[in-house]
Amino acid sequence: MTGPGGAVPGKSRGPEVVVLDGDAYADAAAARIGDALRAAAREGRPVSLALAGGTTPRPVYRALARDEEIAWDRTAIFFGDERGVPPDHPESNYRMARETLLDAVPVDSGKIHRMEAERPDRERAAEEYEGLLPEALDVLLLGIGPEGHTASLFPGQEAVREEHRRVLPVDGPKEPSRRMTVTPPVLRSARRIFVLARGAEKARAVSAALAEETDPVSCPARLARGGVWILDPDAHSGLAGASS
Ligand code: 6PG
Repeated sequence: MTGPGGAVPGKSRGPEVVVLDGDAYADAAAARIGDALRAAAREGRPVSLALAGGTTPRPVYRALARDEEIAWDRTAIFFGDERGVPPDHPESNYRMARETLLDAVPVDSGKIHRMEAERPDRERAAEEYEGLLPEALDVLLLGIGPEGHTASLFPGQEAVREEHRRVLPVDGPKEPSRRMTVTPPVLRSARRIFVLARGAEKARAVSAALAEETDPVSCPARLARGGVWILDPDAHSGLAGASS
């Protein structure tokens, strides 16, 4: 698999794949994310970090909260997607991020931009959120679903084909169904993407996403091919099998 300096002449730069065993996963993933945030801060402008939802990020966010060399006071927090539930709901990505990271670091609460996916006027809420997003996120964290979704971009859905709007309300197959998500233009403009994936149930989707550049509609995680894919051996096993 290509990585830094491993690009094949004439082809786009391949993804960077990092395989980390269970015990090292959270700390090593957090270290890479922290380094990317420090690199962005060195450019002397406000830093933007968009958080992934789900369950995989939990230990990574706890490890990131222990990194004492991140300029949280200069960092704005966004979300790649959110479920249509209140911010204190057990299924809220915002609540998960607060519990594991945001309540533990000195980020300015005015710079934490929650996606208000529970609002009845979801379309308006999406337009408002779009207005908050920077032109290019410094760091975008993503997960991947077993069938290849990322953020709340699900296979075959219209949002995966979106080329103009940067935030859309969606109704997805993963419960809670009512959601809001960033769209392909946001993934394409992000300066640095990290995809966090653990577990054998992700192996097929990871392999499908990294094997081909084409057709993100059937595998939206392909939109993150240019990122750093931080995998445990089980999530990597489809790739390992392909290369053997
Ligand atoms: C969501 C997430 C979603 C998630 C993947 C992986 O709101 O559901 O943003 O894209 O990252 O489904 O979820 P797990 O980490 O729980 O496997």
